[in-house]
Amino acid sequence: MFRKKDSVEKMRDLWNSYNKKSKFGFISFLQSGQKWDGAEFHIVGVRFVDRMMERFAEYGVVEPSYASILEIGCGVGRFLKPLACRFQNVCGVDISQNMLETARDYCSCLPNITFKLNDGKSLTGINDNSYDYCVSAGVFQHITDINVIISYIKEGLRIIKPQGLMLFQFVGNYTEEVGHDAVGAKITADLLDKGLIDSSFIIREVSVDPEDKLRCVVIVIQKIVGDKKTETFKNHKMIERRWLSKVYDDIKTKTHMHSIQIQPQSRLTFYDE
Ligand SMILES: C[S@@+](CC[C@H](N)C(=O)[O-])C[C@H]1O[C@@H](n2cnc3c(N)ncnc32)[C@H](O)[C@@H]1O
Repeated sequence: MFRKKDSVEKMRDLWNSYNKKSKFGFISFLQSGQKWDGAEFHIVGVRFVDRMMERFAEYGVVEPSYASILEIGCGVGRFLKPLACRFQNVCGVDISQNMLETARDYCSCLPNITFKLNDGKSLTGINDNSYDYCVSAGVFQHITDINVIISYIKEGLRIIKPQGLMLFQFVGNYTEEVGHDAVGAKITADLLDKGLIDSSFIIREVSVDPEDKLRCVVIVIQKIVGDKKTETFKNHKMIERRWLSKVYDDIKTKTHMHSIQIQPQSRLTFYDE
């Protein structure tokens, strides 16, 4: 049955309401009755940022301590905090003012972070070519309309400098074309190729972690100027590289990730027709 795409206002209300129910509980969803241990929440953020840094070191051109980075869908600042210890300037963008309020509080010890409430689909107000890096992890899998996801990738490419990197990660096992509530639309190589046909970038990485039952896909693209890209996601070789494995293994706070990691491997739908 066809489901209507969620409006931006509905998405904003949803994430504001999650934050009202529990400030940290919907960042990496918790099993019922659980509460995040503060130190563990911090450690998980550091581990994911370490995964990002491995890629930035491999493909990036500006050394992070001299560089700026913008995160789309920063939530309560789980990644902003470790990013701010490594980058010169960090900007966190989110659709939910409640999430941003919590992030301001959580990151209050760090002076080099700015926060921006956005319209849920663009980076309006942020200048072209103004950041060295752009990242979005754990967000696109919650966006119900593929056009909004494509818009964010285009916007990420707009605001990064030439040769800048954009890294985005999403859950790659969704089957529904249109998502609902916090479950996002299916993202495929074909849809990315069609949506980004006029954008100029090189694909640096498409990877999945062989130990990850959720089949998170990590994509890194690099902005180029002038030439249009010639390669496609559809033809790009997917490599195996760690992302989720070992991040939650020794974490005692029971997250949804723990229950997923004991299930059988799910089907990767990224290369589906
Ligand atoms: C599961 S949380 C992840 C937060 C952070 N990236 C992390 O992993 O810690 C998803 C975040 O994306 C934000 N979000 C959802 N839809 C969005 C949209 N269309 N535009 C911007 N942010 C969005 C939510 O408000 C929420 O803060």
